[in-house]
Amino acid sequence: MKQDLPDSLLSDTKSTFLAARYYTDPDLLPQEMQAIFRRTWLYVGDAANLSTQNNVWVTEAANCSILVTRDNNNILKAFYNVCPHRASVLVSQSGIHSLKKIVCPYHAWVYELDGQLQGTPAKDGFPECFHYEDFSLKAIRCEQWLGFIFVCFSEDAPSLAEHLGEVHCNIKQHYSDLTTLLVKKQYSVACNWKNYHDNTLCDYHVRVVHPHTLDPIQGAVRHYEHFFDEYVNLLYTPTTKEWRSQHRVLGSLSDRARQGFFTYGIFPNLHLLALPNGVLAWLRIDPMTVDTCRINLEIYGIPNFSPPAAELEKDFEAFMKEDMEITEGVQQGYASGVYSGGIANQLEARILHQQRLIRCFLNLQ
Ligand code: FES
Ligand SMILES: [Fe+2]
Repeated sequence: MKQDLPDSLLSDTKSTFLAARYYTDPDLLPQEMQAIFRRTWLYVGDAANLSTQNNVWVTEAANCSILVTRDNNNILKAFYNVCPHRASVLVSQSGIHSLKKIVCPYHAWVYELDGQLQGTPAKDGFPECFHYEDFSLKAIRCEQWLGFIFVCFSEDAPSLAEHLGEVHCNIKQHYSDLTTLLVKKQYSVACNWKNYHDNTLCDYHVRVVHPHTLDPIQGAVRHYEHFFDEYVNLLYTPTTKEWRSQHRVLGSLSDRARQGFFTYGIFPNLHLLALPNGVLAWLRIDPMTVDTCRINLEIYGIPNFSPPAAELEKDFEAFMKEDMEITEGVQQGYASGVYSGGIANQLEARILHQQRLIRCFLNLQ
């Protein structure tokens, strides 16, 4: 990861933020879905949802219903939740299912969990040119990193490993066989998804907005370190003495990881927070309308080592509520019609990094 990007970004003529219309124009949302969300890796969730008993997971990515499966050979796959015959949704109930086959509810075509068409009623009624292999479920790229599932709708995007860059090196030791999902919650926020994402990448507001929540963990701004990969940026901060005195830390970590708090921003709508007490938290920001989004919070940890779920939920909710109030206020500012794009402080370089990717994917100047 490079550390020198802030200067180049800040001296660039593009060091101003996106203008208000990018947060208020309803016509932009379908474009963003196609040009951003359908072209890059998206976080889906916990791989533990797919065990040998529970083998089909119906969920959503980029406003699209998808099936994530483990086939009989335990291979992870993802498909559009659409029947190739006449386009019926295949499994309408979202969530986790135990299924031997996927049977379409419309004309009962039967699919294996690897997506192959296996049977059709009244097969003789089809023309001779009908071959099962031409009507497999339409696949979506799907990969697992540690215990986490990602999908990508584009064949052109680089691999998930390339997308995540050096996240793996820094975080792989935070994760162990004991790591478990402890908290899963959703929050609706009255702001554009980019607004909430920008705010979570903003390292300029912590002392002002989070004096009793995040600031006591992250400590003095002079110790903040930024790093940039192509699709990922990082704020690394040494945890404060006070925090360290209250938490056990994993012996398996390197010195730097044992001392530090990693806050990753991952294009396009994801954050990963890693603490040395085994806590890994994902914040995924899903666009709903142009001025509403849904935050999916998942906190993973090691039972009986990391803090208990109730405490983690309370701590995360405390700073997220502070962020929701701020971002909803910013959304009102965008809607006022008077804002045209401010100038960035160095502590806002991660926002510029994200916005440069947004401009690039949307083909903006
Ligand atoms: S639409 Fe699925 S079997 Fe006809
Ligand atoms: Fe914040």
